Amino acid sequence: MTLFEKLEEASAYIKKQRDVRPQVGVILGSGLGAFVDQIQDKVTLAYDDIPHFKQTTVEGHEGRLILGKIGNVEVAVMQGRYHAYEGHHTDQVVFPVRLLARLGIDSIILTNASGGVNESYKAGDLVMITDHINLSGQNPLVGPNIAELGPRFPDMTKAYDPKLQEILMSQAKTQGVDLKKGVYAGVLGPTYETPAEVRMIRILGGDLVGMSTVPESIAANHLGLSVAGVSCVTNMAAGIENVKLQHSDIKEQALKVMQKFSSLLVESIKIIGNPQ
Ligand code: HPA
Repeated sequence: MTLFEKLEEASAYIKKQRDVRPQVGVILGSGLGAFVDQIQDKVTLAYDDIPHFKQTTVEGHEGRLILGKIGNVEVAVMQGRYHAYEGHHTDQVVFPVRLLARLGIDSIILTNASGGVNESYKAGDLVMITDHINLSGQNPLVGPNIAELGPRFPDMTKAYDPKLQEILMSQAKTQGVDLKKGVYAGVLGPTYETPAEVRMIRILGGDLVGMSTVPESIAANHLGLSVAGVSCVTNMAAGIENVKLQHSDIKEQALKVMQKFSSLLVESIKIIGNPQ
């Protein structure tokens, strides 16, 4: 079965559960799952039940697709994502993005927990991703191009849509959220970086470092979606502060910013789904 046929099967299954075209997709990062409480008229589907999905394995990531509304905007929210470091092929990592596109979204908000590389950041900061650097050594578009999805050589000049960035910044301002801006460096993981790697990333122009988002952003750009990225700085990257990095602390920090993160997303989605 081709990838395209798998996407068709999965989307047919989802449309049977709720036959409404979602406008905005969201992928939730580590510890940011509570955002789903903001969705109304919810239909929740376990990844297990969706054809061609696999269960996710990381602690702090649940495997659910939630369809519903935020205000009058139809949304499709992935609670739990696939990471390449789990051993998933990049096709699997970006399957949710491609499926959301198949369901009809125009815009996608990618969220994550990351390490702060820019020394002006602190744990708990929210950062809008303005661009990325792919340090993973992987690209989900390697292999024969699937022409039904997008072009062979996608343009990445505006990988993070300037209009969506404007909406996020203006909503942050309205809500008094200090939303920073930064370049996200995507690594493979699963080890956290060494202090030397963090210094390298800073020299290269990275402000944040994390193990997700980049493949999804690439696949979303290939599909022609408008992409936004919001990162929660859960810790300063290795070597900046004299502490050991632990996933449990990172999850805990993400939980602390949940409220401002949620309200920023909710209000931005209402604007994104109702363009003037
Ligand atoms: N490095 C990589 N990924 C991360 C980090 C980090 O310091 N924090 C949260 N995700």
